[in-house]
Amino acid sequence: MEKKTLFSEQIVNIGADCVEDNYIMAIESSCDETACAIVKNGREVVANIVASQIKTHEKFGGVIPEIAAREHLDSINIVVEEAFEQSGLTPSDITAFAGTVGPGLVGCLLVGLNATKTLALVHDKPFIGVNHLNAHLCANYIDTDLKPPFMALLVSGGHTQIIDVESYSKQTIIGETIDDAVGEAYDKVARLIGLPYPGGPRLDKLAQEGNPKAFELPEGKVEGYNFSFSGLKTAVLRLVKSFDGKDLPVNDICASFQECVSKTLVKKLKKAVEERGYKQVVIAGGVAANSEIRKKVFDLENEGYRVCAPAMKYCTDNASMVASCAYFNTNTFDDIDVEVFSRVK
Ligand code: KG4
Ligand code: ZN
Repeated sequence: MEKKTLFSEQIVNIGADCVEDNYIMAIESSCDETACAIVKNGREVVANIVASQIKTHEKFGGVIPEIAAREHLDSINIVVEEAFEQSGLTPSDITAFAGTVGPGLVGCLLVGLNATKTLALVHDKPFIGVNHLNAHLCANYIDTDLKPPFMALLVSGGHTQIIDVESYSKQTIIGETIDDAVGEAYDKVARLIGLPYPGGPRLDKLAQEGNPKAFELPEGKVEGYNFSFSGLKTAVLRLVKSFDGKDLPVNDICASFQECVSKTLVKKLKKAVEERGYKQVVIAGGVAANSEIRKKVFDLENEGYRVCAPAMKYCTDNASMVASCAYFNTNTFDDIDVEVFSRVK
C-alpha cells in the first residue's frame, strides 16, 4: 500500500503486498521498557534493543510513572544508537520511523513518540504512529509466514481481549475483561503472597512446582467472550487469609490460580475460533509468556488448529512488534501531529 505523510514529500511503499525491501525503525516507551528495533519487511528483525527498568521499580512494588518517564529520557538515545549499530544500517537505509502512540503512561509515551517524530523530521522520512495493543498482536508476524484470518487472545498487564483478525487492517474486539486484566490479576495475587514486582513471571515459576488441583477457585462467569478476574483475586485473598500467616502453601496457591486463569482464557478462545470457523489461533501480550497459558493454547494443535505465539522476547514490551505493526499498517496513524493517549479510544 502507498502511504504519504503530511510533512514528507516521500511516498512509502509498505505492507503485505509490497515487493521492495523495507526497513522500519520503531521506538516503544509506553511503560517501563525503552526499546528500539529495526525490522525488514515486517517480519525479519535486524536489530532489537530493550532497556528494562525493572530494577528501578522493583523497590516500589510497581511502576512509578514519573520515574519511568525520566528513565526513558536517559535511555532513548542509547537504544537508538545501539539499534543502528546492531543492524549495521544508517538512517538513510530506513524506510520509515514508527513509534507507539498509546495506550500507556502519557509521560513515558511522550519521550518515545517525540524521539520518533524527531528522527522522521531530521531524516525527512515518513512517520507512522502505532497502537500498542495492535503491536502486541503483530509480534506474531515476526519470523513466521502467518497471515489473517485468525482468532487472537491478547493478554497483557492492562488488557485481556479476544480479537477477530479478519485481515491485516480489519480487527474486531469480540470479548474483553469487565474488570481486572489478566496481567493485573497476576501482579495483584503475586503481591498478596509476598512476591516482588513484576509478580507475573515469578508466580508462573512457583506455579510450575505446585499442584494445580490443590484448591478449587471460582471461574468468573461472564456472558459471551468477556472475562472477569476480580472474583478470583478476592477468592485467593480469602484463601491466603485462612492460613493466618502460617505455612502458606505458596506453590499450590500459584498453581491453582494459574490453572483457573488458563482454563478460563482458553475455553473462550476455543469457543470463539470454533464459532468463526477459522483454522488459526494466536496469543499475544506480556502474559502470553506464561507457561501454562502457552501450553493450553498449543494443545489446540491436537484439534487441528495452527497455533502461533511470539518468541518470549517479543511477548513482553519491545519495539520489533511496533515496527511490524507499522509495516502491515494495522490501525496506524500517519499524521505527525498525532498526540499520545493513555487509554484505548
Ligand atoms: O504486555 P506487557 O509487557 O505490558 C503491557 O502492555 O501491559 O505485559 C506485562 C504483564 C505484567 O502484568 C507481567 O506480570 C505479565 O505481563 N507477565 C506474566 C508473565 N510474564 C509477564 N504473567 C504471567 N506469567 C508470565 N510468565
Ligand atoms: Zn505491552
